[in-house]
Amino acid sequence: MIDFITTTALQNQSCDCICIGFYSDKLQENFSANSELTTLLRDGNIEEIISQGDFTGKLGLTHLVSMGKNNACTPRILLVGLGESEKCSKKNYHKAIESIISAIKPLPIKHLGVHLFAACKEELSITYMLQQLAFQLQRQTYQYSKQALQQGIALYTKDNCSKDTDKHTPLEKVSCIVNQTINDEQQGNDALFLGASLGMGVNTTRFLGDLPANVCTPTYLANFAEQMGQQYDCLTIRVKDEADMQQLGMNVLLSVSQGSKQEAKFIEIEYTPGQAKSNDTIVLVGKGVTFDTGGISLKPSASMDEMKYDMCGAASVFGTMHFLAESMSCQTRVVAVIPAVENMPSDRATKPGDIFLSYSGKTVEVLNTDAEGRLILADALSYAEETYQPTKMINVATLTGACIIALGNHRSAVMSNDDAFAKELMEVGQSVCDPCWQLPLDDEYDKLLHSNFADMANIGGRAAGSITAGCFLKRFVKNTTWAHLDIAGVAWLEGKKKGATGRPVPLLANWIIQQ
Ligand code: BES
Ligand code: MN
Ligand code: ZN
Repeated sequence: MIDFITTTALQNQSCDCICIGFYSDKLQENFSANSELTTLLRDGNIEEIISQGDFTGKLGLTHLVSMGKNNACTPRILLVGLGESEKCSKKNYHKAIESIISAIKPLPIKHLGVHLFAACKEELSITYMLQQLAFQLQRQTYQYSKQALQQGIALYTKDNCSKDTDKHTPLEKVSCIVNQTINDEQQGNDALFLGASLGMGVNTTRFLGDLPANVCTPTYLANFAEQMGQQYDCLTIRVKDEADMQQLGMNVLLSVSQGSKQEAKFIEIEYTPGQAKSNDTIVLVGKGVTFDTGGISLKPSASMDEMKYDMCGAASVFGTMHFLAESMSCQTRVVAVIPAVENMPSDRATKPGDIFLSYSGKTVEVLNTDAEGRLILADALSYAEETYQPTKMINVATLTGACIIALGNHRSAVMSNDDAFAKELMEVGQSVCDPCWQLPLDDEYDKLLHSNFADMANIGGRAAGSITAGCFLKRFVKNTTWAHLDIAGVAWLEGKKKGATGRPVPLLANWIIQQ
């Protein structure tokens, strides 16, 4: 983890670069802010750069200024445009940090100074700014291949691993210069630590998501959990194999896995807080389909490789648990439940029309083997509800392509048996720029799951595909406040920037610490 600290003075910091933010309509403000900053700006001839029009303070604009070797504070200043002060917002602040990251990426900067830009509105508090800064800077240290190497995966030896192209700056330390607006140093450092921990959690999610499916199998995920358990005392790990699941009657879950050579694993990670403030328990359930071919209802081959991301729900639950363990910021028991399977066609695979008896006692007719996520989640949800009697339960899944049609790649879908809970999640998502939007679960949709031969079918037809999937899950939750996040559109990026995003870890983590 990068070493993040707050400081009130630039002197004696010996940074490799200091970033200074400017609102486009208040370019002069920094020159009278405090004498130290004024001196630094004068040394860099910044007033001239501004009067020449080379730096306007436009949002996302950066301008690198060399200070010469002899400057007492820093050899470089990076001017950062914050846009119009009137329009300042969390979104704009994120953009400004992103522009800092791309500007410093090619530079050999180990120690970065950031002159924290004055908080402008209530929405953008100084603690939020510190947390986000640490989060985004920690997040950008993610390097897929390097991480894979560190995890000791045999597939990636030093010689065949040539994908180190996404170089990032070797950042070791970040000093955040906060002015008079914050006087509680501890509060500032806590915000930085929380943000950095969240960055680590998000990177764990991205790492697991990006792994190819021949490495990231259900067994790999189980071993990964065991490793986390060894690393953190506050985490307890339990792993069930197929025989255990059979004994428990998780036949609907096992029906997805039966066509694969890879053994299904049922992973539980329990986080025990230092001092529990209540008897509450939060349960997170993550869809862990390590590869989704569709099974006998085989998917078309175009972009099928992206179905290695079908365990991103599970990965986001792993990442959230990593964040909790690292930051120890939550005083409530949290349990992660991860059904992990591979969905393959084979002579042993489930055939359309096959019927299975679920853990809950209800029977399911599998009309489409490609609607497998809801099947593994069904048994996981009823098991988790019965075993942990949670106060609240959230499942996370790349559940339906229809969700991408409905909401695109910007918002996750949230569905719930409790509108107030859905609203709460939407609000938290909005406040941490990891937004979601509620879809309804009316009975009229639920009826579409009718089967002539079992208690229900696993699909509801073409209409309202995300909602009927949500209705299916709802049937396996008896009396717990529950929400389902469909992250099919937000869990990874396509095209040139292909890669896992780490969403919705910010939403989950921030909701949990607010409990
Ligand atoms: N994992 C997919 C959903 C998915 C597809 C996520 C594309 C992201 C991108 C899921 O298992 C699936 O195949 N769902 C089917 C359901 C259908 C058969 C009712 C779908 O969305 O087509
Ligand atoms: Mn599928
Ligand atoms: Zn799937």
